[in-house]
Amino acid sequence: MKHFLSIESSCREEIEGLVESAAELKAARVAGELTMRPLEGQCWGMMFSKSSTRTRVSFEVGIGELGGTAMFLSSRDLQLGRGEPIRDTARVLGRMIHGAVIRNDSQTDIEEFAEYSGIPTINALTEMEHPCQIIADLLTMCERIGGWEEKKVVFVGDGDCNVARSWVWAAKHLGFPLVIASPAGFCPTDDYLAAVDAPNISCSDDPVEAASGAHVLYTDVWVSMGMEDEAASREQAFKGYQVDDRLLDVAQADAIVMHCLPAYRGKEISADVLEKHAETIFSEAENRLHAQKAIMVSITKGQ
Ligand code: CP
Ligand code: NVA
Repeated sequence: MKHFLSIESSCREEIEGLVESAAELKAARVAGELTMRPLEGQCWGMMFSKSSTRTRVSFEVGIGELGGTAMFLSSRDLQLGRGEPIRDTARVLGRMIHGAVIRNDSQTDIEEFAEYSGIPTINALTEMEHPCQIIADLLTMCERIGGWEEKKVVFVGDGDCNVARSWVWAAKHLGFPLVIASPAGFCPTDDYLAAVDAPNISCSDDPVEAASGAHVLYTDVWVSMGMEDEAASREQAFKGYQVDDRLLDVAQADAIVMHCLPAYRGKEISADVLEKHAETIFSEAENRLHAQKAIMVSITKGQ
């Protein structure tokens, strides 16, 4: 039994295998063949302490399509929300359910849950990473631009957020050039980048220079969940870091724009660019379903 806790702890072969499997599961679903049911007879718990549209729905649908039952457990209702330790919650749930999908603001808690529950555990977003998102994004790159080999990815916005960090580790494992374009104070720290130690990753505080020659312009919200108190100062700091025509003008002529969603038009992305690239962006959202099915199939293999 395995877990899927971060892109950091994954390796090239695992990531490539998941993207390949996600593409196969997508093709099978399009053909109406939902025959793979490794979760038959299983109940999976989904413990979310933050809002979600894509992740929640894609996991609930995916667990059902793989033969299992999903149980949504909001932290507002669990005793966890009243202070029951994560390791106790893990030891109880581990005796009742077969897998766990967790969204919270503590990578450490998810790792502790995985250790104490003894059941396959998936990170559905923490303060540190959003690994499921990145598998769907890589599948989208395969579909739209034929893969990631030698493709320049430019992440514009909060370079120190969970999605950006997962991109950093994806670039480390897969070797494509990644530029993080963020204002001072929102780049990955020097210590973090030194720990990652990947010469193909660089940072810039000039979004236009960073976007030059990009194959992928990627963005995420300026104000991640839990940071609402900083909304005003962040909107000030990120002015000029919108993915708009100014950046597309210097990118590759056939550059794609990606966004993990939800999107705030007029902030991190212009309304025009979002609509022009809607087919990519909403396929990316759909790919969450296929990617997460691949993750569940992979971590339950051999159970
Ligand atoms: N991209 C993403 O994780 O969306 P949700 O917050 O709606 O799940
Ligand atoms: N960085 C964002 C991602 C949302 C899917 C957040 O944490 O809110």
